[in-house]
This record gives sequence, structure tokens and C-alpha cells, in this order.
Amino acid sequence: MQILEVAVASSGFSDARPAVAERNAGSSSTTVLVSRRESFNAAHQLRDPSLTEAENRRLFGKCAGLHGHNYTLEVVVAGEIDQSTGYVFDLKALSDVISHRIIEDVDHRNLNTDVPWLEGLIPTAENLAAVFWERLRSELPVGSLRSVRVWETDKNWAEVGERV
Ligand code: NI
Repeated sequence: MQILEVAVASSGFSDARPAVAERNAGSSSTTVLVSRRESFNAAHQLRDPSLTEAENRRLFGKCAGLHGHNYTLEVVVAGEIDQSTGYVFDLKALSDVISHRIIEDVDHRNLNTDVPWLEGLIPTAENLAAVFWERLRSELPVGSLRSVRVWETDKNWAEVGERV
């Protein structure tokens, strides 16, 4: 997997990384960001199966037990405005990609046991964001995916983006 930047945040901190609009050298075109937000509900537990119950409890606290979250997934794509449509990207089409590649597989599932493409991963928001990134990137125009942010609660998120 290509090295990705993962950012995490918690309540009380602002996002210190401002959105950057890149300009193509030698061109007057401007990159515009657009975003689609989707949600899903899923159960998970933070545990390393190679550790004992006590060790998992020590590492992950109460998150070692099975519990659920109402997740929000925010996907940002970047590009130039298509003069014929006024769109950078058809957000209904982006919604369809997110649903097909991610939501249909994870909604109302146990992320530890029910999703083949999450097998072997501790389903933290960081790991989810990294895997979601890969699954979306392969379905979108090359270079258009800018960031994937997974909100686990309204206070905690993890984000993956290309390292600029
Ligand atoms: Ni949790």
C-alpha cells in the first residue's frame, strides 16, 4: 500500500491542516473540492486476537468489548469544474461508489467478523479510513480522491489523504 497520511482528532482540537487548493503550473485552472457524506451503523471491538483478554483490556479499555457506533464517512474529491455540467464530480455518482464499495458491506455488521476485506485488522477509525481510502481510490478518476474521514463519534475522527 502506498504511504498515506493519517490524521486523527479529538474534541477540543481544531483541524490544524488547512485545505489546500492546488493550482496546476502554467494553467489558470483552479482545483475545487467537493464532498459527500454518508453514514452507517456497525458493531466492533478493539482487540488483538493474539493477546489475552487482560492484555486487550489493558490496551483498549472498555473498547475491547463489543459495542456499536453510528459512523459518518466523509469523502472529498478534487478536480476542475467541468464547464459543460458545472460539476467537479457528480455527487450522486460519488454516493453510489461509496455505497457500493463500502456502505453495503459494513452497515449493520460486526466489523471484526462480518467483512472479508477488514479481516485481520483491528477496526479502529484509523484502519477503517485507510482501507476505505484504498477501496474508493480504485473506483475514482486517478488523482481525484483527496481525503477520507471516518467519524466514529461526534468527537473523534480519523482521516486519510495523500501526503502532499
Ligand atoms: Ni468503538
